[in-house]
Amino acid sequence: MSADIFEKIQANRGPIGQHAKESHGYFTFPKLEGPIGPHMIFRGKTRLNWSLNNYLGLADHPEVRKVDGEAAATFGLGSPMGARMMSGNSDYHEQLERELSAFVNKESTILCNFGYQAVVSAIDCLVDRHDVIVYDAESHACILDGVRLHMGKRFVFKHNDLEDCEKQLQRATKLAAETGGAILVITEGVFGMRGDQGIIKEIVDLKKKFNFRLFVDDAHGIGTLGATGGGTGEEQGCQDGIDIYFGTFAKSFALIGGFISSDEQVVEYLRYNMRSQIFAKAMPMPLVVGLLKRLELMRNHPEYKAKLWEITEALQKGLTEAGFEIGPTNTCVTPVYLNGSIPESTNLIYDLRENYNVFCSMVVYPVVPKGMIILRLIPTATHTLEDVKYTIECFSKIVGKLKAGEYVSDKIAAV
Ligand SMILES: Cc1ncc(COP(=O)(O)O)c(C=O)c1O
Repeated sequence: MSADIFEKIQANRGPIGQHAKESHGYFTFPKLEGPIGPHMIFRGKTRLNWSLNNYLGLADHPEVRKVDGEAAATFGLGSPMGARMMSGNSDYHEQLERELSAFVNKESTILCNFGYQAVVSAIDCLVDRHDVIVYDAESHACILDGVRLHMGKRFVFKHNDLEDCEKQLQRATKLAAETGGAILVITEGVFGMRGDQGIIKEIVDLKKKFNFRLFVDDAHGIGTLGATGGGTGEEQGCQDGIDIYFGTFAKSFALIGGFISSDEQVVEYLRYNMRSQIFAKAMPMPLVVGLLKRLELMRNHPEYKAKLWEITEALQKGLTEAGFEIGPTNTCVTPVYLNGSIPESTNLIYDLRENYNVFCSMVVYPVVPKGMIILRLIPTATHTLEDVKYTIECFSKIVGKLKAGEYVSDKIAAV
């Protein structure tokens, strides 16, 4: 007799799901209520919130809220109906694509309904079984899933390790010569967990030695890095060397969806071949109109990015001076590395939320090695220097308690 799928998942709930009973609603699936910003309500009380990728503070910007509401009233949420290719195209969609191309300095752009899906689908669309993928070991799940769909060979290089990247490119070049295929290198502009930038410029320089195309997922870089907010390529002065550029709307833009920018002929190919867009309904008009407004604000208000960096620098400097380990971040993503067990980490987060009213995300095993706790802070343009000061004071207190063994218990904090 074969096994039963429902019985199997009953027995194995998955690495995070196994804790669902104790964690649901508090450590996982918490509900943050009220207008999006640094002060939100969690379980009936206002908490200082560092957990949202609302980098530029656009989510609750009054002009954004106004345009979003008006666009929903004018077009309805359902418009346009159908896939872009069949019946769902509009002047607004095309205008947004043109404006995004100018923003990231590329010839052409395709809008995508979801960022995650866009990356998976674009990788699937660009390579065939003769081609070889070379990718960073710490790539986001969407890159890993795109690579999983690939029918040909793939070589992974150690995270941000140029020497290993070159070694894998040598292997890929040899193999591609045998199969008659091409090489696609994939990495990220900003690694969202540690906050370190990808070694994009160095990889671009490898084009002098190897023949490949470079795909960069810049989900955290768009809007936060580069003189005009054009992302990691602009920051590192190598945007031209990025052949396929991906940005999400789920972070700096504070909406949903994403886009891919490249040469005109590549984007046209994606338009006619990318399965997640051809076989799916077009992005709703209120989102498109709302994105045009957000992009206008990003272009015309460099002070939002400047404020984001003022807060980021104060936070990272303050944490370092207070003796915290924040690792190799050179972006706004601010991880604080601590040592402790999973029960200690949950007791610590519970104390931080309930007694200090500070809300941030926590990352533990299996996402990071056993015994490591990461408290992940995302500064935004709407935080204040007071928020920074208060948070560092609270962190110093809870880490004192962690070191004194006050959070030791076999039980996860009762929630
Ligand atoms: C590096 C990276 N790529 C892709 C995504 C997926 O983007 P989206 O949330 O727009 O689906 C994320 C979001 O978590 C991300 O951090």
